[in-house]
Amino acid sequence: MVRAAARQGATTATKRMRLATACVLATTAMALAACDAGAPDAGAVAAAAHSSAPVAVSAVQVAAHEAGQSRAQVYESVRQMTALGKQLFFDASLSGSGKLACASCHSPEHGFSPANALSVQLGGNDMHRTGMRAAPTLKYLQAVPAFAEHYHESDDEGDESVDAGPTGGLTWDGRVDRGGEQARIPLLSPFEMGSTPAGVAAAVKAAPYAGAFRAAFGEHIFESDDATFSAVLQALETFEQTPEVFYPYTSKYDAYLAGKAQLTQAELRGLQLFNDEKKGNCASCHISQRTMDGAPPQFSDFGLIAIGVPRNRALSVNRDPHFYDLGACGPERTDLKGRAEFCGIFRTPTLRNVALKKSFFHNGIYHSLDQVVRFYAERDTNPDKFYPVVKGKVQKFDDLPQRYWANLNTEPPFDRKPGEKPALDEAEIKDVVAFLNTLTDGYKAAN
Ligand code: HEC
Ligand code: HEC
Repeated sequence: MVRAAARQGATTATKRMRLATACVLATTAMALAACDAGAPDAGAVAAAAHSSAPVAVSAVQVAAHEAGQSRAQVYESVRQMTALGKQLFFDASLSGSGKLACASCHSPEHGFSPANALSVQLGGNDMHRTGMRAAPTLKYLQAVPAFAEHYHESDDEGDESVDAGPTGGLTWDGRVDRGGEQARIPLLSPFEMGSTPAGVAAAVKAAPYAGAFRAAFGEHIFESDDATFSAVLQALETFEQTPEVFYPYTSKYDAYLAGKAQLTQAELRGLQLFNDEKKGNCASCHISQRTMDGAPPQFSDFGLIAIGVPRNRALSVNRDPHFYDLGACGPERTDLKGRAEFCGIFRTPTLRNVALKKSFFHNGIYHSLDQVVRFYAERDTNPDKFYPVVKGKVQKFDDLPQRYWANLNTEPPFDRKPGEKPALDEAEIKDVVAFLNTLTDGYKAAN
């Protein structure tokens, strides 16, 4: 199955907010021109910053009109919310312990993934509790469509008749669709920020930005804790859609696609192996080519897929031999509980900025890209390198009960048997890693 490239699938309201954000913060002439011409969505603005894709409908004008606001007012409100969202993101006083901010687990210098190499981060009121998952990057989430069990390409560049299977949603299991709903999870989780809506509201009221908060959300906002909490979620969601910060498309690979940089021989070989359907076949899930309308690739099709990542025995939840993190079928996600076909599947992450991460896969089991790429190449040819061996027998797929093995992906590079040649040899693994290193934002051409 070759999955169709997933694109913007957010609700109309989210799309408009994203668009307004993208336009407020657009700096390049092409992006601004796209806003003025009425770009259909934030992706189009980002794409326009890199191409001259034509745009048609004036969504900003429509959004502003519907809200009874002028375009300037919409822009101003997005600007205020973005500034507040940023302050909230770095504010540890929002947590029960007073020690944990969003930025503690999502460090801006590390592509908004953790600064340390722990598989799972410490949190809770005593700062000693852990969850079961690695903290992902927060970059390039603007392109994640809402979760769908059967995803069909929604715009004119894909084949709508193709069912790409379960796709989209935020978090590793796709259980929420919007940044605001997502932010509620860490703020209230007992093993993360461990607060309550009232606790968060009290912290905001006492914060140096309380005045700015009232200016953005109205004089009466602090009269209700629930309203204050909702406003916090909205501001965080708006901040997460700041194009320059969260989806700048400034990697070496972007410069290469734009004809402004050359890849080294190793990087080029890595790209080739990444794309080759018989070798890495990585691009079948981690899309590496521009879309037909010229938008830069997201390095994910956002599909939920089971690849049989080994059990991370260092996690405290895994001390219980009967416990399994089954992704979309639970236990964190509850709406697909008991639906066997959703067990063991996790959302394909973007690989942009992946070289800034220090723990990989949903359970953070690996700590170098070399280990990750070797897992892809040798999972089926040398399973003893990745799974425990008990009495001479490899316990393959030890983190997924056997009744769900039918869900496991078997496309290349996962199409081999023990003893066969791995899809990538040692030198090729190094080349793929070299290519992955070109996906880090902030590339500056050496002159
Ligand atoms: C203790 C560490 C920790 C803190 C603090 C934290 N997060 Fe996260 N974040 C995570 C983990 C772990 C996940 C993955 C959760 C899952 O899959 O169930 C995640 C996932 C996310 C995602 C979804 C990413 C994706 O790929 O879909 C977003 C967005 C996010 N966090 C935003 C925030 C915001 C906003 C805050 C502050 C209100 C925050 N996080 C605080 C650890 C943390
Ligand atoms: C069939 C779809 C598919 C293919 C093919 C695929 N991946 Fe992935 N990739 C995923 C999924 C799904 C995950 C998350 C799995 C998990 O954590 O359970 C992932 C995770 C990763 C991660 C970890 C990212 C992070 O933030 O933790 C890296 C690195 C990666 N893939 C690189 C590659 C490379 C390199 C190739 C080719 C050799 C490749 N992938 C092929 C679907 C795929």
